[in-house]
Amino acid sequence: MKNSNHELDLALLSDATALAHLFDDRQSQHGAVNPPVVHASLFAYPDYETWKANVTGEKRRAFTYHRSGNPTVKLLEQKIAHLEHAPDCIASSSGMSAISMVLFGLLEAGDHVLCVKTVYGPVRAMFASIFSKFGVEITYFDSEQSTDLSPLLRDNTKLIYLESPSTGVFEIQDLRAVAKLARERNIWTAIDNTWATPLYQKPLDLGIDISIHSGTKYIAGHSDLMLGLVAGTEDAMKLVRRVYSQLGASLAPDDAYLALRGLRTLPLRLKRHEASALEIAQWLEAHPMVTEVMHPGLHSFEGHQLHRSQCSGDSGLFSFSLQARSEAARAAFVNSLAFFSLGYSWGGYESLLSPLAFSYYGNDELRQDLGLSDHMFRVSIGLEEPADLIADLERALDAYKQTD
Ligand SMILES: Cc1ncc(COP(=O)(O)O)c(C=O)c1O
Repeated sequence: MKNSNHELDLALLSDATALAHLFDDRQSQHGAVNPPVVHASLFAYPDYETWKANVTGEKRRAFTYHRSGNPTVKLLEQKIAHLEHAPDCIASSSGMSAISMVLFGLLEAGDHVLCVKTVYGPVRAMFASIFSKFGVEITYFDSEQSTDLSPLLRDNTKLIYLESPSTGVFEIQDLRAVAKLARERNIWTAIDNTWATPLYQKPLDLGIDISIHSGTKYIAGHSDLMLGLVAGTEDAMKLVRRVYSQLGASLAPDDAYLALRGLRTLPLRLKRHEASALEIAQWLEAHPMVTEVMHPGLHSFEGHQLHRSQCSGDSGLFSFSLQARSEAARAAFVNSLAFFSLGYSWGGYESLLSPLAFSYYGNDELRQDLGLSDHMFRVSIGLEEPADLIADLERALDAYKQTD
């Protein structure tokens, strides 16, 4: 803000204005409108007494060692905490490191976790390869079951892990119902909120304890950095903070600076991603070669009403299925696209496509259980002109139809 004399009701401040001003202390940085990038592995103490006061807790220093905190990273954490309506947030070096911090912070040997089955694949892999080794049991559930998970609860259920909307086949879980049940039973709840971003879905307002982001996606927005974010209630964050420095996944200050830069245009970019993706999803829905479009913002989408009751807008990632044809036809479709790069990530300025034929490749049983087929594709709609993207898809669908 211009200076610190302005007393504002933060609850009334719109997210876009908060992102442009809140927590920026410009006069303390020579009036510079952008925050300094603080490159420092350590923050030196002026004398013996200050060191002692920090260690004994008599007077804690804000920063001591980068792995447990840095001023540039802190500014990013403050802004995300504000957007998530959370008292605290931790930024880390990737979405997966943020997820690891939550799981290592909350779980102990012998615990049971309920996890939505359409969760981001590497989380499933982490449960199988790391947490099962420590005696943590996992039960996967269908999004439809989220309205009442009580039949799946056990005495040792410690955490319910959600991803809504999920980011392959876009299923919606009932956040209010899960939060209510979990609070009654003293069970933690965490959600991967990457798709909706902290602008469109505020899980803590619905009773969820922890909201996690791969900030690599829309928050960074330019496909040039990795970032994880965890925002949560005071009690939950106490447990996550305990392990955060030990896991050593701190965010570099340059990446925090770039993420802060991305954040400033997030409200604008999201509106464009949202409008373009919806227009393209509707166009695809009407195309004769398309059998299904999985976009939570479409009225035809199962779960649309539940989604709208807990998420105020839509981002630009969705999937669709084509009429079954040969692999050569699928290759012709993909290779005919000029503006859709082929890649895993999403949420950047550029459009991307991923063939879902290769998700959980070779594990047909799981692919069937998750509703994945060889004719499904996921697209991340970028900031290009939607008419150009539609023309590109139209050319590629013609190639698909003409290839045997
Ligand atoms: C839904 C979702 N959650 C988490 C992650 C992990 O984030 P990162 O790649 O930043 O580690 C991803 C990455 O693609 C994702 O799509």
